[in-house]
Amino acid sequence: MKKTNVISAAILLATSAMGSTVHAEELNVVCSSEQDHCDLVAQTFEAETGIDVLMVRKSTGETLAQVRAEAGNPKIDVWYAGTGDPHIIAAEEGLTQPSGADTSELLGWARNMADITNGRAIGIYAGALGIGYNSEILEEKGIAPPECWADLADPRFAGEVQVANPNSSGTAYTELATFVQLFGEDDGFRLLGEIGKNVNSYTKSGSAPTKAAARGETGVSISFMHGMVQQTVAGFPIVTVAPCEGTGYEVGAVSVIEGARNFEAAQNWVEFVLTPEVQALAAQVGSYQVPSNSNSVMPPEAPDLASIKLIDYDFATYGASDTRARLLERWDTEVGDPNPQQ
Ligand code: F6P
Repeated sequence: MKKTNVISAAILLATSAMGSTVHAEELNVVCSSEQDHCDLVAQTFEAETGIDVLMVRKSTGETLAQVRAEAGNPKIDVWYAGTGDPHIIAAEEGLTQPSGADTSELLGWARNMADITNGRAIGIYAGALGIGYNSEILEEKGIAPPECWADLADPRFAGEVQVANPNSSGTAYTELATFVQLFGEDDGFRLLGEIGKNVNSYTKSGSAPTKAAARGETGVSISFMHGMVQQTVAGFPIVTVAPCEGTGYEVGAVSVIEGARNFEAAQNWVEFVLTPEVQALAAQVGSYQVPSNSNSVMPPEAPDLASIKLIDYDFATYGASDTRARLLERWDTEVGDPNPQQ
């Protein structure tokens, strides 16, 4: 089916799924997925509802900071996508509100997000964390590819590793929380510090390191595997590694901001992005997360979570405000970004 036909079909199906006419005219969305994924969902929603979507793309940690700064006078109605922990924190801090959306078609991990937050954040997709490397760069430099997280601390990767800053990026916070859960807090920080000696840059956004690896600007990235697959499908020599020790994962979420000026439109957005048809749009623009609606089409490119050694990621603990604040403070002190990006 041609792309436009698929979108039209999605609009039709989503219309019948939503069933109601929408009267609001504007919706302010911050989107923490990839720009083209955000744009496609927003354009489809506009076409379907006639509501103007004003959208900006921001990383997950940055969005949490904005939502906190605007508490009581929010400029955002909906926070769409981004890793779940900061969404859970926003819920805990009373910065978001329940949308009342039906979660009965969603997979267990997506409903779990709604349970933890009393319906304030709902899971929209999942993705596992991994290591990506540019096979041409490593081969040219005679560097044996990594298989485990611990390999990234080896001096052979000096200046070759890129990862995001966990203050701004939900991906990098997932990495930090994963290391703490996999290795214990002290050993996890020790390993992050050792890997840090090989890091050439801490980026703002979580997917930037893999894009840099695809362009040959760095040999190795730490990020979500679906972003690595995206680059491989696009023709770049990126190999995805599921680390031997096991790995963590994200449950991406959607939340309605407390005090949202366009609450009805925000509710419609949430219902819309939970439909199988809208979730299936992501793969058309190379966003290969696992969709949360059990009736959505699983992109064949999406990394098979069942075949990856996943930890039992503790969202309640690592999505708690005080845990994140404490871990980030420790990261700033013990690992740190010598050149933070503004
Ligand atoms: O690029 C898409 C994505 O990997 C999502 O799966 C994830 O929720 C988001 O990026 C996190 O972005 P960031 O690390 O920039 O907050």
